[in-house]
Amino acid sequence: MKILLVGGHGTIGKRVATALKERNELIIAGRSSGDVRVDIGSEGSIADMFKQVGKMDACICTAGTGYYGPFATMTAEHMRPGLEGKLMGQVNLVLIGKEYLSEGGSFTLTSGIASEIPARNGTCVAMINGAINSWVLGAAQELKQDRRINVVSPGLVEDSYDRYRAFFPGYDLVSMGKVVNAYILSVEGAITGKILKVYA
Ligand SMILES: NC(=O)c1ccc[n+]([C@@H]2O[C@H](COP(=O)([O-])OP(=O)(O)OC[C@H]3O[C@@H](n4cnc5c(N)ncnc54)[C@H](OP(=O)(O)O)[C@@H]3O)[C@@H](O)[C@H]2O)c1
Repeated sequence: MKILLVGGHGTIGKRVATALKERNELIIAGRSSGDVRVDIGSEGSIADMFKQVGKMDACICTAGTGYYGPFATMTAEHMRPGLEGKLMGQVNLVLIGKEYLSEGGSFTLTSGIASEIPARNGTCVAMINGAINSWVLGAAQELKQDRRINVVSPGLVEDSYDRYRAFFPGYDLVSMGKVVNAYILSVEGAITGKILKVYA
């Protein structure tokens, strides 16, 4: 399969890349590194990326983040980068990318446990993750030609423990192997419209 992995040099993305690259043609896209450069916060940049990549069998996105900060002082401006990046960036990957996705191909997006169990200061990310999950449920009904879409919702992954432990007290760590398997299930399996929750 020809697979486009957006965010393939990130913590989760690089492990997904390792698992997929042996038996697939893998193209990694990222903001500051990768085979192709893209800022998913820009529709023009997404369109340019797909023009460069051309027809593909699967598109995975492990890119994006959202605002963490005190609710008392949070404003719409704080939320904008995450809404334009992780949320609308992934939505636009599908809206623009569906023209490049082969018949029977798949999209796999990424949300996160915060949709159900938000961390302190994590209201914005909770909203973004919940919106991605709901959008995938709807989009799965709309895609034609046997094209599929799923979303992986990871818990706090073990490789991120040092980076995030102060922000997620009490969250059980999730094995990276299980998270990677959820992406493989979405790409190589037959499921569609699923929120693949990988919580501990
Ligand atoms: N790590 C966890 O424990 C965890 C748990 C639940 C959910 N998640 C979600 O899983 C996803 C991946 O997390 P991660 O920990 O692997 O993140 P990460 O280590 O920060 O990596 C994110 C990757 O995405 C790229 N990226 C970020 N913004 C981008 C943009 N606007 N356009 C294009 N590329 C962009 C980054 O590239 P540059 O470095 O070049 O900017 C980087 O390669 C995120 O959506 C995160 O919210 C993670």
